[in-house]
Amino acid sequence: MKVLITAGPTREAIDPARFISNYSSGKMGYALADACVHSGLEVLLISGPTQLEVPINCDYIAVESAQEMYEAVEQHIVDCDVAIFSAAVADYTYKTPATQKIKKKEDSLVLELEKTKDILGSARNTFNFTGLLIGFAAETEKLVANARTKLEIKGCDLIVANDISRKDSGFNVDNNQAYLITSKTEQELPLLSKKALALAITQWIKKRLS
Ligand code: CTP
Repeated sequence: MKVLITAGPTREAIDPARFISNYSSGKMGYALADACVHSGLEVLLISGPTQLEVPINCDYIAVESAQEMYEAVEQHIVDCDVAIFSAAVADYTYKTPATQKIKKKEDSLVLELEKTKDILGSARNTFNFTGLLIGFAAETEKLVANARTKLEIKGCDLIVANDISRKDSGFNVDNNQAYLITSKTEQELPLLSKKALALAITQWIKKRLS
């Protein structure tokens, strides 16, 4: 059984010296890759830039932008039985990245952004993925309701939802307090280390595959 995992942030170039990104550390995705390898699954990790070491026995593709991540997923998802989208993909990218460093001239600078492609949202309809599909939902309000909307719109079997407004959970820290949400159920997990949450998600996957 083969699992594709997206992880980390993406970087959207402004010019050769600058980019737009977010606070994702990649810890959740890398913990998932490690847990899946240890439970006997074959893993392909597609990751934006992080400070982390790639887990052993895991295939790895490094990407930078949302578009690069989209293309890597498009190419490899067909071979996979399970896909887990834990990356914090930029929702918007700079429309016209400069080839030379932008010089400091005016008092204000307006950057026009355009929407990136929704990679998880493309899995079912564009990539025709029929395997087990797991997404994450980073929310600051109406956690369960917003996550369930994402589950339905993106055609997921499971959404792992977390409240990113909490300081002790989610972005850039070691712990995560999550809900596991399916179309029929919702399970509130306690505050767990990302490694322990990765194990819980891997157990959920193994149960569904068996
Ligand atoms: N996702 C993705 N490609 C994008 C945006 C998001 O694959 N361009 C995936 C994320 O990896 C995550 C899920 O979609 O698994 C939900 O991401 P989230 O940031 O919570 O939601 P968005 O779909 O971006 O919606 P919004 O920002 O409006 O809440």
